[in-house]
Amino acid sequence: MQKPKSSPKPKLVGFQPPAIGEEEIAAVTETLRSGWLTTGPRAAELEKRFADYVGARHTLAVSSGTAALHLALLALRVGPGDEVITSPITWPATANVVVHAGATPVFADVREGDLNIDPADVATLVGERTKAIIPVHLAGQPCDLDPIHALGVPVVEDAAHAAESEYRGRKIGALSDVTCFSLYATKNIAAGEGGLIATDRDDLAEAVQNLRLMRRSHGSLYDISVPGYKANLSDILAAIALCQLDKIPRHTEIRRRHVAAYDAAVAELAGIEPLDRDPRDRHALHLYIIRIDSSRAGGTRDDYQRALGEAGIQTSIHFLPVHRLTWYRERFPDQRSLPVAERAGGEILSLPLSPAHSDEDIARTIDALGCVHAAFTA
Ligand SMILES: Cc1ncc(COP(=O)(O)O)c(C=O)c1O
Repeated sequence: MQKPKSSPKPKLVGFQPPAIGEEEIAAVTETLRSGWLTTGPRAAELEKRFADYVGARHTLAVSSGTAALHLALLALRVGPGDEVITSPITWPATANVVVHAGATPVFADVREGDLNIDPADVATLVGERTKAIIPVHLAGQPCDLDPIHALGVPVVEDAAHAAESEYRGRKIGALSDVTCFSLYATKNIAAGEGGLIATDRDDLAEAVQNLRLMRRSHGSLYDISVPGYKANLSDILAAIALCQLDKIPRHTEIRRRHVAAYDAAVAELAGIEPLDRDPRDRHALHLYIIRIDSSRAGGTRDDYQRALGEAGIQTSIHFLPVHRLTWYRERFPDQRSLPVAERAGGEILSLPLSPAHSDEDIARTIDALGCVHAAFTA
């Protein structure tokens, strides 16, 4: 008997596959052969190259974007009794590090168009206990930094999505007290794991240097001035990051092409809109986030995510409002509601976007989104 023919499974479109090539593989091999497994010359080179790239006086390589934010707060001496204002539309790490520092996160609402922190709301929350503000450049769209800087509170930018962003012609990385980048596997500069702290302030750079690695040598002996952490970056990861830094122009071109295809397609779909991108700024195009208005799109965000998943298209959510996640809800039960963030949290969906995607991957995603939309609005 002949085996029944099964219909060929459609190729999955992954959400953000890494864009790793032969260059990264060769760089890792070379690093392994060099004998440097931990922090060494490649981490130092990455710090120098990234400092030049963003125009900051200092860049310090650390083990993750989370560690970067944590050490930045500690360098600013944020601690118990202090408050740090941040956005609820972020990865929980942004708020978690405030808790790790012993301080209290205070969430400001976001702006309707780009879901970045609303400077007007931040202004109402600044008080005597406010020790820092952490704006998060969601998807790669810079926050409106000028009115935030005008509040006179130290600013730690969460630039995990913003390695290529510019705010009004100025590169993200040298505009605030500290700027923290992530080298996580999905990021524009993807090493797998890692983080970079950029600052012009000598005092903060020195504090981070003492905090990121416990060991400091003094001749053949050693001593410590603070009980530091273990948050240094290995040369193996730095070698990958250096290759990725070289590839930025090539990867940017691919991101632009994919985003233009999405923009054209989404413009035809009632009830589906991308987040705003401010033409005065350079957007890093790290994520392509759409908002789904169920009354016009015929289905909710969750309906769309499910249907796209069934069609082999992997999507993600950036982000569910942090203040409504279990720990934050239970620990801070009296939080005020943040209507813009809370509504957006149920409507946003991130489509596949990576320089590793082919034009065909994006075309398949667009096709699937169109079919799902047609079915829901029929
Ligand atoms: C907005 C934002 N902040 C912080 C982080 C933390 O970075 P990492 O994963 O490198 O610790 C991430 C994600 O990974 C993020 O998306």
